[in-house]
Amino acid sequence: MSKKLFIETLGCAMNVRDSEHMIAELNQKEPYELTENIEDADLIIINTCSVREKPVAKLFSEIGIFNKRKKEGAKIGVTGCTASHLGQDIIKRAPVVDFVLGARNVSKITDVLEKKHAVEISTDYDESTYAFGEYRSNPYKAMVNISIGCDKQCTFCIVPATRGEEISIPSDLIVQEITKAVATGAKEVMLLGQNVNNYGRRFGGSEEKINFTQLLQKISKIEGLERIRFTSPHPLHMDDAFLEEFASNPKICKQIHVPLQSGSTKILQAMKRGYTKENFLNRCTKIRSLCPEATISTDIIVGFPGESNQDFEDTMDVLEQVQFEQVFSFKYSPRPHTEAQHFTDVIPDEIASERLSRLQARHFEMLAAQMDDQLGKVHKVYFDELKPNGRVSGRTDDGRLVFVEGSEELLGQIKDVKITKTSRASLDGEVIN
Ligand code: 5AD
Ligand code: SF4
Repeated sequence: MSKKLFIETLGCAMNVRDSEHMIAELNQKEPYELTENIEDADLIIINTCSVREKPVAKLFSEIGIFNKRKKEGAKIGVTGCTASHLGQDIIKRAPVVDFVLGARNVSKITDVLEKKHAVEISTDYDESTYAFGEYRSNPYKAMVNISIGCDKQCTFCIVPATRGEEISIPSDLIVQEITKAVATGAKEVMLLGQNVNNYGRRFGGSEEKINFTQLLQKISKIEGLERIRFTSPHPLHMDDAFLEEFASNPKICKQIHVPLQSGSTKILQAMKRGYTKENFLNRCTKIRSLCPEATISTDIIVGFPGESNQDFEDTMDVLEQVQFEQVFSFKYSPRPHTEAQHFTDVIPDEIASERLSRLQARHFEMLAAQMDDQLGKVHKVYFDELKPNGRVSGRTDDGRLVFVEGSEELLGQIKDVKITKTSRASLDGEVIN
């Protein structure tokens, strides 16, 4: 009988792929079946995120709960970004944890499993040769890493400390991975990296050195691959050649994440983002003019140290000017291993909360108007998930979530769908072709 694995994945798409890699590695050694019941699991993995403080605090209470519910002899492992930055301290604080495995060390999962209280968190480790086993949670869309780590020095961000130096994965390996995924049913790929459009910055070996635009061109030649998405790009590396490729390449989905963080040039400087409010607006205007059908999403932090009312108004101004289709917004959270944790001029929580509410309320208003416009539109939807009650979901080319009535025959198909109903986060429609 195969062993059972419970795996909880927090954080970003990179973590989701890391979880898949761990499942693949474990299975190469002995078969594991996924379970959603802690009580049944032989191995419990919490794949953590440390980008903000809250999930870290939650980790220790969760370990306590899992420990009470787990069956005798079951192991608990903490992996991912919080594992990277707390390391040994996790075991000191929670000795019931059997192993700690950092975000850049997922390929060592079978090694740490064998040693009691093993801690592997080196950020020097090079996983860019991509020697992972095969496992995909969804056969219709593949996630493929194109780089690991991050060389940026954003003063709020813990990721360079947890994922280490940026290394690009050789393009031939990327093409190989995607070709394999296409052969088993994937028409769509999501290219992953902390800083995807900085691809080509540094390779581990002497591979062919190409940049992100060239990589996109190379990947689009893969036969049978119909849709290419990527996350996350950095506004600083959105040169004209890249935006032109984005707009003109029919395989590239017309959805782009342009993380703003702040609309104030002064705060952007304190964050060490490398662009000004004007540079940012210029890139978004270019996207809108080259590709009016594209949706733009963003990340915004409010309450960064030193953020005045005027700085916040600058952020609101960018929100008005760009009319983002999606906004992920957060209150600033001081993190260890970052420069900004030492910044004075801390913004009181009430003010940060007030700013966050105002920003979100304004964006919801914009969304309501945008979603109304969707009614009656026809989109090409790629169906990739079976839902309860006879429904199937998929994404439009510009990244909107759509539900239709249907069955598994729709899975893996791209169909014309007419939108019949809208809500804030998704659309309902009917297949017309
Ligand atoms: N506090 C709040 N939000 C943060 N992010 C990253 N670090 C912090 C922090 N210290 C946000 C950024 C990033 C997203 C993934 O998380 O907006 O783009
Ligand atoms: Fe969280 Fe960032 Fe790590 Fe992703 S890379 S899991 S968002 S801390």
